[in-house]
Amino acid sequence: MVKAVVAGASGGIGQPLSLLLKLSPLVDELALYDVVNSPGVAADLSHISTKAKVTGYLPAEDGLKLAMTGADIVVIPAGIPRKPGMTRDDLFNINAGIVRDLITGIALYAPKAFVLIISNPVNSTVPIAAEVLKKHGVFDPAKLFGVTTLDIVRSETFSATVLGKSDPSIFNVPVIGGHSGDTIVPLLSLASPAVEVDDATRDALVNRIQFGGDEVVQAKEGKGSATLSMAFAGFRFAESILKAVSGETGIVENTFVYLPGIPGGDAIKAETGLDFFSAPVELGASGAIKIENILPKVSEYEKGLLAVAYKGLATSISKGVDFIVKAPEAKM
Ligand code: 2OP
Repeated sequence: MVKAVVAGASGGIGQPLSLLLKLSPLVDELALYDVVNSPGVAADLSHISTKAKVTGYLPAEDGLKLAMTGADIVVIPAGIPRKPGMTRDDLFNINAGIVRDLITGIALYAPKAFVLIISNPVNSTVPIAAEVLKKHGVFDPAKLFGVTTLDIVRSETFSATVLGKSDPSIFNVPVIGGHSGDTIVPLLSLASPAVEVDDATRDALVNRIQFGGDEVVQAKEGKGSATLSMAFAGFRFAESILKAVSGETGIVENTFVYLPGIPGGDAIKAETGLDFFSAPVELGASGAIKIENILPKVSEYEKGLLAVAYKGLATSISKGVDFIVKAPEAKM
């Protein structure tokens, strides 16, 4: 029996993500939590003729506790999205507290669950989650993931566009680093099939992958950021976790994780100086079982991109850690 929880289920990402999870044969129970409208979203989805039993919870009447209790996997898209001109870091002041409170609920009621963080800025909210889980003595680095899959999805799609290929899913382009602007480092030199383009085309493609989120924010004209593609990406990652849990082997996903806690992470930490980084992670029944140090394989051009990414990541990671070290406990 697999119980999945969506925390922030009524929002722009939460609703389509909940729909995709309701359609998955790998989910038996789906609990939707949000500060508004989650019972309504749950009632709506509950009419779909797939097996997952859907329930909706609000904060009142122990809603967070009831939603989280018994959870195997919790996906968190909760928080506010960007408006035009904002960076993901501009969301920190509001989303940091939201993530802290939800993770406190996980620490108390679902300490063994896989935790997938979508709420931005991911480069800071994942360190926040790690610190909260550490404070409660339940941090398992193999089970905490920042979802960076949308960067992979964009790199597949935009590479296909540039090369005039009709099926983006044939592309495999590692994207490492973080999930914000120039901390997103696409490794086109390691793409399969090869993405061989001139330097100007390469620069434009890298820029489009790094700032693809801004395209959506601008096109939505103040009504938010990527929701449908983000839900697709969040589901793709959640599905990989659920497949690994059910015994499938050889699943590798790029994801933002706590390096010192994962086999292979120390080598990346030694090279980057960072505690958190997104790189190809092999998934198993217990979560992250190995992280690949892909850094020795990158091109000179990509080394330049990485140097910029390391600086941005160091700042965002410290900001997340400091928020928990200095901030008061969550009000539960
Ligand atoms: C994006 O990359 C919402 O962070 C998300 O568009």
